[in-house]
Amino acid sequence: MHAMTAPYEFTDKPAGYRRLVRDLQALLAGEHDLIANAANTAALLFGALPEVNWAGFYFLRDGALIVGPFQGKPACVRIALGQGVCGTAAAARRTLVVADVARFPGHIACDVDSHAEIVVPLLRGRELLGVLDLDSPRRARFDSADAAGLEALAGVFVAARTAAVPGA
Ligand code: SME
Repeated sequence: MHAMTAPYEFTDKPAGYRRLVRDLQALLAGEHDLIANAANTAALLFGALPEVNWAGFYFLRDGALIVGPFQGKPACVRIALGQGVCGTAAAARRTLVVADVARFPGHIACDVDSHAEIVVPLLRGRELLGVLDLDSPRRARFDSADAAGLEALAGVFVAARTAAVPGA
């Protein structure tokens, strides 16, 4: 079982994310169950990243995003493609960084304490599996370094899952 050692340090974001990538690879090594890996990924990110009040997954099922494993307050269950920050990022298949969710037309408020959000699509090639979503109570919490780091982590997650679900 993977054990976290020292607390994460995010004064240098790229270095913090490089460590998180290594730790996620170790955490998911040899395990291919989608729910298990998503739950552990959400727990790792929620515990490691400062100023984050929601971290988790929405998976594409029958054309809509359905909430998956997460850490934080209960969230809305179904999001249509093109709706909210999650559905917009999923439809565009690109990472969305929102400094102030109040200024994002159609933002879906799950927690009034959330002010900033980042959504990273989970892609296997061009196939959309879902999104990785993080919220913060601090406006402008996420930047391009978070986008790059979370995209790398999403890649580790997709690679681990892909290995075990042939043809899925
Ligand atoms: N705010 C998201 C909904 C999901 S929650 O933040 C967990 C959105 O607008 O898509």
